[in-house]
Amino acid sequence: MTHSIQRIAINTGGGDAPGLNAVIRAVVLAASNRGWECFGIRDSYEGLLHPERYPDGGLVRLTRESVRGITHLGGTILGTTNRGNPLRYPMPDETGRLVEVDRSDEVLAAFKRHRLDALIAIGGDGSLAIANEFYRRGLRVIGVPKTIDNDLDLTVVTFGFDTAVSFATECIDRLHTTAQAHHRIMVVEVMGRYAGWIALNAGVSGTADAILIPEIPYDIHKVAEKVNQRIAEGRDFAIVVVAEGARPVGGSYTVLEREVGRAERLGGVGQKVAHELQELTGKEARVVVLGHLLRGGSPTTFDRLIALRFGAAAVRALAEGESGKMICLDPPTVRYVPLEKIVGHIKAVPVDCDTILTARDLGISFGD
Ligand code: F6P
Repeated sequence: MTHSIQRIAINTGGGDAPGLNAVIRAVVLAASNRGWECFGIRDSYEGLLHPERYPDGGLVRLTRESVRGITHLGGTILGTTNRGNPLRYPMPDETGRLVEVDRSDEVLAAFKRHRLDALIAIGGDGSLAIANEFYRRGLRVIGVPKTIDNDLDLTVVTFGFDTAVSFATECIDRLHTTAQAHHRIMVVEVMGRYAGWIALNAGVSGTADAILIPEIPYDIHKVAEKVNQRIAEGRDFAIVVVAEGARPVGGSYTVLEREVGRAERLGGVGQKVAHELQELTGKEARVVVLGHLLRGGSPTTFDRLIALRFGAAAVRALAEGESGKMICLDPPTVRYVPLEKIVGHIKAVPVDCDTILTARDLGISFGD
């Protein structure tokens, strides 16, 4: 039998997403209402691994007062990192070369030392895989899915995605007028890692002419054909939305950077597509990379609401004695699913889904 909960920790890991603060607020209020004490770990697990680097010791008491007025704020009051995986922590060896070291025992020891009974880990697939490992090693853990990319399995959607798509759509709207005025091809590169959800949803909503996503490898000649067809019809500009993980038929992802202890950084495919389209169509092309702008700003109402629902559900799950579970949205409700079921799975866009069919019916090219 598990002992009752008195003190819980919360952390946010991986890239930030609008809605993180709303989750934190819901967790703190729901836990305080049960008489539990809440603590926030700074920068994912860094606050426990390097307390000396933080004026507050890396672990901060979270009260009703500390989470007042944060529901609408982007970012995370706790800080985050996508470098500090305690299971594969980058440390210099004796030659100064960075190698990956397992520091998970130090995290578990810190939980004991601070008498923390459970962890609510808010993060994407990397952070949830770490959370699942801590659960396997005996910690009581509930995961809350977060990512603007919407690539987590077993939840209909993650918070942050709606905000990112709304902003990307607004940007595409703005690019339409300048593309039309200058008779140009505007290529818009958006985040999304190995899934094309942001590109697809924003591209269809923003009436792009072509959308390139990782799930459908593209042939640049087919994209150029689409642009030329528009020109022949007297529409001498085009909007092409490119997911950062898009790749040509037979080719691979465009990678900006590889580093020990973190996932590869994608980026640059927009520039490549713009250059090739300019060559093939003779039309001037420009590229706009929306990048981290998609992670900023205030969460939409939809994202705030699911973030608050996820946070409260995480506390209810712990109160019900659950552990090793992830909160998921399964409309009209939220449920818990085993963390191990989502680890290592990327929710890609199904190539025959209704939104793809809609796009094709509207005449949008996927370059295939
Ligand atoms: O997963 C969220 C995400 O924003 C991806 O879309 C993107 O590839 C990655 O994070 C970028 O991370 P960083 O913060 O290291 O630039």
